[in-house]
Amino acid sequence: MSSVSSPPGPAEPEIIAIGCDHAGHGLKREVLKLLHELKVPYVDLGCASPDESVHYPLYGKKVVEAVLARPHARGILICGTGLGMSIMANRFPGIRAALCHDIFSAMMSRRHNDANLLVMGGRVIGADLGKEVVRVWLTTPFEGGRHQERLDLLEQLAQEA
Ligand code: RB5
Repeated sequence: MSSVSSPPGPAEPEIIAIGCDHAGHGLKREVLKLLHELKVPYVDLGCASPDESVHYPLYGKKVVEAVLARPHARGILICGTGLGMSIMANRFPGIRAALCHDIFSAMMSRRHNDANLLVMGGRVIGADLGKEVVRVWLTTPFEGGRHQERLDLLEQLAQEA
C-alpha cells in the first residue's frame, strides 16, 4: 500500500481543550487539577457546573472545533459513560477520539491510533485512575510508520463512503 507517511507526532500536545457535561463535571475538576500541576496549557470549554443537566453534544462540539483549529491541539471529553461524547466526536473528519478507562488503552490509543481526543466516563472511572489515564495519554508519542498508513487508509475510505 502506498501512502503519504508523516513523521510521528509530538508526545505532548501544545494545548488541551477540555469539556464535559454535568455527569462528567466531577472528573473534569480532578483532571483540571492534574493539568495545572503538570503545567499543561488548557482551555476549559464547559460545562460550568454539575447542577444543571446539559446536552453533551453541545459541549463535545466546542472541544472538537478547538482540536481541529490547531495542528498540535488535543482534547479531553468527559460525560457519564464516555459513550455519547465518543460517538459524537468521531463523526467529525480529523477527529480520532478514544474512549479509555485503562492505562493500556490510553497508551495504545496514542502509539497506534494517534488519538487526538481522549474520552472518559465520569460514572465509570474513579478520579485516581482517570488522572493516570490522562497522564499516560498526554505523554505517549505516536509511532507513525505502518500505523500512519492505516490512518491514511481510514481517511481515504471515509471519503469514498
Ligand atoms: C447523562 O445522563 C448521560 O446520558 C451522558 O453523560 C452520557 O453518559 C451519554 O452518553
